[in-house]
Amino acid sequence: MTEGFDTRDAAQYPAIRRQLAADPYRPRYHFVAPANWLNDPNGCIQWQGTYHLFYQHNVAGPLWSDIHWGHATSTDLVHWRDHAIALAPTPDSPDADGCWSGCAVDNDGVPTLIYSGNTIGADGTRRQQTCIATSNDGLQTWEKHPANPVIAGPPPGMETVQYRDPSVWREDATWYCVTGSGIVGIGGTALLYRSADLVHWDYMHPLLTGDVGSHDPLWTGPMWECPQFFPLGNKHVLLISVWDSGTKYVAHYVGTYANHRFTPESLAYTDVGGSFYAPQSLQDDRGRRIMWGWLRERRDRDAQQAAGWSGVMSLPRVLSLLPDNTVGVAPAPELMMLRGAYTEIVNHDLASGEAILDVYGDCLEIRAVFAPGDAQTCGLVVRRSPDGAEETRIIYEAATQRLTVDRTRSNATARSDDPITGGVVALTGDELLVLRIFLDGSTIEIFANERLCLAERIYASRADSLGIAAFATGGTATLRQFEAWNMASIWE
Ligand code: FRU
Repeated sequence: MTEGFDTRDAAQYPAIRRQLAADPYRPRYHFVAPANWLNDPNGCIQWQGTYHLFYQHNVAGPLWSDIHWGHATSTDLVHWRDHAIALAPTPDSPDADGCWSGCAVDNDGVPTLIYSGNTIGADGTRRQQTCIATSNDGLQTWEKHPANPVIAGPPPGMETVQYRDPSVWREDATWYCVTGSGIVGIGGTALLYRSADLVHWDYMHPLLTGDVGSHDPLWTGPMWECPQFFPLGNKHVLLISVWDSGTKYVAHYVGTYANHRFTPESLAYTDVGGSFYAPQSLQDDRGRRIMWGWLRERRDRDAQQAAGWSGVMSLPRVLSLLPDNTVGVAPAPELMMLRGAYTEIVNHDLASGEAILDVYGDCLEIRAVFAPGDAQTCGLVVRRSPDGAEETRIIYEAATQRLTVDRTRSNATARSDDPITGGVVALTGDELLVLRIFLDGSTIEIFANERLCLAERIYASRADSLGIAAFATGGTATLRQFEAWNMASIWE
């Protein structure tokens, strides 16, 4: 059991990070809070060349409570530097019980945060209202606006499930904001507002409302958290985090935006694992759309309490619009600067059975290229103990074209309600299966053919669960190429 940490005082962060670095479940090249609870990425912005990442953070413990905004910056998208807490709840104000998720914009040189202030009423009900804060010292300290809340709640007369998470952009001289909500009995919605000054807002209409009764192609639920709306190629994307009395998963619509109306043309999961949630993105000075999400824990509260920390930020993912108007996703190329000792294997025929590869580790990038051949399944085993009792399987099944991660035997004790998660990677013609797999402590992030992403959490119970194997079943697949790199830590 770890002694409780207090992350109010940034001077303590280096010592706290050193103390927690020995925890084998703690990632070494994914961003994590110095200690304690982390959830959504917030306020992602590149300011004078520097990337700023804020995050939902409990300064007093590793479970969700009394939410502040933590703050980190990076000049290379890979190494992060901690800064002092950016936003803390102010007693007797609209954010008295939490500074919930929001965004950052550049208001003609004035950095401005737009976020959800949370208050808890006498009857225990939580209420979120839109607040703003500005900085005049380069995004370090923030002053809350006297006019807060700048939006006092849902549009009058609208019966909403919940209401929060403003996301703001500018078109010409006008600011626009979408806020996550749900219309009772109808479905999740992203409500569109406009403003000339970020202080006075006019409600326009729902940018989009889902249908809670539809499962085609996927269920978008009764309420959307953290909507994000941005152009990608010549289309627009609306990211939603589906909430139904709890956080579910992330999906995105691709469509066209004209006259402040969004017409979706497709809808897909943004990550097919069970960990990724509440992503936020920025457009950087190279025009790239870069997204981070919260990788939720997949272990119980007691385990998080004992660890002293909870929650991981995903790797930065670069989004693109593919020729078929779906969203492509790749790890930011900057991550390659972390690559160290290298192993390569070429053209390994995998008849039915398993081949142990001479590569070990829990802080690795792996690139594996498979020709599925006539095998029924092929894939990799990672985090494997020498006797094979503990392992995590990454499986591609030819008949269904599904890529899954099977965590049934990832650890000796923990159970999970959904140990197998995944989605379809439709390979066309002779297309090879190209997997980039990032293992980092308890984190696994998989990018398949730059169009499917799957993040999961693994809590191996054995220190020697570090092995890797390749396999095929029901025929022969070829492992055309296998590369692995030891990855450096981003904390020195
Ligand atoms: C998403 C979310 C947001 C909310 C924040 C509170 O994970 O529930 O809707 O603003 O977390 O921490």
